Amino acid sequence: MENFTYHNPTRIHFGRGQIKKISREIPAGARVLLLAGGGSIKKNGVYDQVKNALGARVTHEFFGVEANPDFDTLMQAVALARREKSDWVLAAGGGSVLDGAKFVAAAAPHAGDAWQIPVTHGAAITAPPLPLGAVLTLPATGSEANGNAVISRRAIKEKLAFHHPLVYPRFSILDPGTTLSLPARQIANGIGDAFCHVLEQYLTFPAAAALQDRFAESILKVLIDEGPKTLADPSDYDARANLVWAATWALNGAIGAGVPQDWATHAIGHELTALHGIDHACTLAIVLPGLMRVQRETKREKLTQYAARVWRLREGAGDARIDAAIEHTRAFYESLGIRTRLADYGLDAAETAAQVARRLAARGETALGERGDITPSRIEQILRLAA
Ligand code: NZQ
Ligand code: ZN
Repeated sequence: MENFTYHNPTRIHFGRGQIKKISREIPAGARVLLLAGGGSIKKNGVYDQVKNALGARVTHEFFGVEANPDFDTLMQAVALARREKSDWVLAAGGGSVLDGAKFVAAAAPHAGDAWQIPVTHGAAITAPPLPLGAVLTLPATGSEANGNAVISRRAIKEKLAFHHPLVYPRFSILDPGTTLSLPARQIANGIGDAFCHVLEQYLTFPAAAALQDRFAESILKVLIDEGPKTLADPSDYDARANLVWAATWALNGAIGAGVPQDWATHAIGHELTALHGIDHACTLAIVLPGLMRVQRETKREKLTQYAARVWRLREGAGDARIDAAIEHTRAFYESLGIRTRLADYGLDAAETAAQVARRLAARGETALGERGDITPSRIEQILRLAA
């Protein structure tokens, strides 16, 4: 196992009726900027509960953070926070609102060009970000318990991730009841995103990390079991609760501690969103099967372990078993209703492959993956396999 330091500072309040705990978490004298998306929180009762919990605190609201939160939109929220001297940020929504809140919290006190925050992957952050809290309404990204945010800038077709230890939410409310209003597409996206988060930290090479491996496999199995249950019966609270908790653990740092990580599927996927506006989880479903094929040799041991322990494929020659595990993975995404081929999104594979490889190369991202061996030509190969 590699050395690691593990610290997750986010306090989680999980379960029904927990939104009221906001009143304990945010100081009574705080000036709060409440950030939200396109209005789902007004329809499902989350907004009223949040307002009740905030009580008499001075609160300014910013609605309109879009899916794949946009820099230009978020800068309007930054202007509001600065004008109103907000000293707390509260996000209520999905990963996009939470990521947007992290950016606003970091950008409001930042002197200089705030776009440098994502461009430098967070290194440009020098002033301490505002404290932030979250009410999560969509299980998917793990943003509720990590220090990551992904910011898009449509004007220049970019989508970049940043990380900073001071943008972990101070607290997150995870009330599975708030997710019952999600449409099937977003439930499926959440399952598909969390599944890929686990694989990016698990499907690398063995690191003698027995607990992380077993834990990762457990999360995958919970997603495989509870995901279809949730889609079949969207009112099933227990299935939903398991999904919410599994998605949090998929990217709260625990299974990634002390092990090699890949993240090439995400890097390639972000380009597909930036260029073509494809939902985040759909981009992962397009990239992942091809990446598993192209990286078969370097991932052989873990692919075999994945086949045996997650899909229970214990028979047959090594390669046949790996092929079957890859096909099970593709079939799982398709069973959720997430299409896995570029043609399904009206895109030509050869053209898209060349375009994405060029963009990543131009940004200097020429050595992705746990061994740094996912070069532009491999990226092209991976996407061509998604024809
Ligand atoms: O905008 P509203 O009206 O709230 O509607 C949203 C949005 O249209 C809706 N929604 C959310 N909760 C709902 C609901 N509708 C009904 N009932 C509810 N309870 O769902 C739509 C999608 O929301 P969004 O927040 O965009 O989805 P998600 O949580 O999948 O977040 C995706 C973003 O997170 C980034 C992605 O790249 C993408 O930008 N990621 C962030 C990560 C992180 N911070 O660690 C890691 C991930 O890999 C990912 O990259
Ligand atoms: Zn993701």
